[in-house]
Amino acid sequence: MLKLAKRISKKAVFGSILFIVIQVFAELNLPNMTSNIINYGIATGDFNYIWRTGAIMLGLTVITILAAIAGVYISASESQKVGRALRSDIFEKVMYLSKDKIDEVGQASLITRSTNDVEQLQFVFMMMLRMLTFAPIMGIGAATLSYVQSPRLARIFFISVPVLIVFLVIIMSAAVPRFKKIQKMTDRLNLIFREGLTGVRVIRAFNKSDYEEKRFKGANFDFMRNNIIAMSITSLLMPVMILVLSSTNIAIVLIGGEYIAVGDMPVGNLVAFISYSSMLLFSFMMLSFMLTMIPQAQVSAKRINEVLAMESTITDGSKTFPTTDFTDESARLTFDDVTYKFHDAEKPVLCDVSFDMQAGETLAIIGGTGSGKSTMANLIMRLYDATTGSVFLNGENVKDLKQYDIRERISYVPQKANLFTGTIRTNMLDGKPDATDEEIWEALEIAQAKDFVEKLDGGLEYQVEQGGSNFSGGQRQRLSIARAIVKKSAVYVFDDSFSALDFKTDAALRYALKEKITDAVVVIIAQRISSVMTADEIIVLDSGRVVGQGSHEELVEENNETYMEIMNSQFREGEGQ
Ligand SMILES: Nc1ncnc2c1ncn2[C@@H]1O[C@H](COP(=O)(O)OP(=O)(O)O)[C@@H](O)[C@H]1O
Ligand SMILES: [Mg+2]
Repeated sequence: MLKLAKRISKKAVFGSILFIVIQVFAELNLPNMTSNIINYGIATGDFNYIWRTGAIMLGLTVITILAAIAGVYISASESQKVGRALRSDIFEKVMYLSKDKIDEVGQASLITRSTNDVEQLQFVFMMMLRMLTFAPIMGIGAATLSYVQSPRLARIFFISVPVLIVFLVIIMSAAVPRFKKIQKMTDRLNLIFREGLTGVRVIRAFNKSDYEEKRFKGANFDFMRNNIIAMSITSLLMPVMILVLSSTNIAIVLIGGEYIAVGDMPVGNLVAFISYSSMLLFSFMMLSFMLTMIPQAQVSAKRINEVLAMESTITDGSKTFPTTDFTDESARLTFDDVTYKFHDAEKPVLCDVSFDMQAGETLAIIGGTGSGKSTMANLIMRLYDATTGSVFLNGENVKDLKQYDIRERISYVPQKANLFTGTIRTNMLDGKPDATDEEIWEALEIAQAKDFVEKLDGGLEYQVEQGGSNFSGGQRQRLSIARAIVKKSAVYVFDDSFSALDFKTDAALRYALKEKITDAVVVIIAQRISSVMTADEIIVLDSGRVVGQGSHEELVEENNETYMEIMNSQFREGEGQ
């Protein structure tokens, strides 16, 4: 947490301490002056003295209030600033973090960390800025001044302070473990809620609503119970505090009364002493309250630091591509014996894949679900790095290149089409910010999306809702294909992008691609034979292994087992259509 606390500016710390010192000194003077009014003013009937001292006290009170306002303002605004900086840092980190690292923490937890954990820390920083100086100064000041009022009476604190500390330690050690658990439980709540939201249609379709509800209720109940217990325990702080304080005061009055009776101490001193006594005990309570919060904030700080300290497993190389020309005849994509294994897996999900494609050629990858097709796309994009073997883009090992440069040269249509909130135009411009309407319409035409976009209200200005939810699956796919085409690239990767299209549209799209994209490598990932048949080279994957490679004719010629199996099953299916 100290590492994050360093983000608090020195100016704020200094300003906050300054105002706290002013506030505490003004406050500490008040009981003493009350004592003086009683001892000198009232005892002698000196009204002048009473008025004068009263006026000074009023002034001090005003100073106390002003200093408190300034101090609170500084601590609140500074902690908000630190919170804001932390949130942006986390966001920035996540934006550049490699995919495997994001998967390690999980999306739900990342969201809790950037919101709830930061808030937690923000609050503690604010309290720390105030209390960590306030409580000790107040405590020491009150102890000293009460000693000045009556050294003998001050011995009472040798009993009441230890008693208070014992109570506080007991309460805190019961509450702290509960507080520490809150963050993990929030993660779990978020996870279930997120899954419920994103999967709401599936959950309904499978009648899993009951199950999900129970799961959520369970997590929600655990969360509630943990917090109720934690709060109940901490709520004991105040009564215990008051108990100790009141007992101390009773003792003070009993013993002090004796002193007054025998003339050892003026009445005013007793009144002031009682005030100092509560200041002293309160400062202990504030400190202990801080100490309860620190372990909880420590948990949050650790979770935030974990994210901030994460290093992408994928790092930039030093070579630069010429920044112009994204497409030309030199476009080339090569896999040399590429094997990929997830860090915690035993078996590789992709084994010894090799190919070499030139501009104008189409590579197709076919295989069942889980055979490693998307993994290949991720390797091309360098979202993953090959465990062994190498990937080359235009003859350069991608590990030597900058990630930005690689992605500038690759158009990628993910398996799950994803559009952003905005208009169709803003989505299309994501690929190429200066694309003209003409270019956009051409891309839409290639992607077979022109017809339906033309019919939309406003055409390119038509609003796209979050995630593109106001389009059908097939429309979303075609729009994300168009977006990839608008971006002129050396390599185009279509990960199962034709799956939601009917056979006719699929064929028209592939024909248009072949026609229009002549100076780039096109990679088509599909599960349908009809989508891959026309490719120059087909890689047949089965559980990460290449079980066939060559053109359609070659694969048929050699009677490739897996390929023929897929083909037969699909043609039989297709016969009726
Ligand atoms: N983040 C991950 N961690 C571990 N295994 C994964 C991860 N993502 C995918 N896999 C595994 O990798 C294999 C290949 O996945 P993928 O390339 O997505 O298949 P495909 O696209 O052909 O359906 C699958 O068996 C899947 O379980
Ligand atoms: Mg896939």
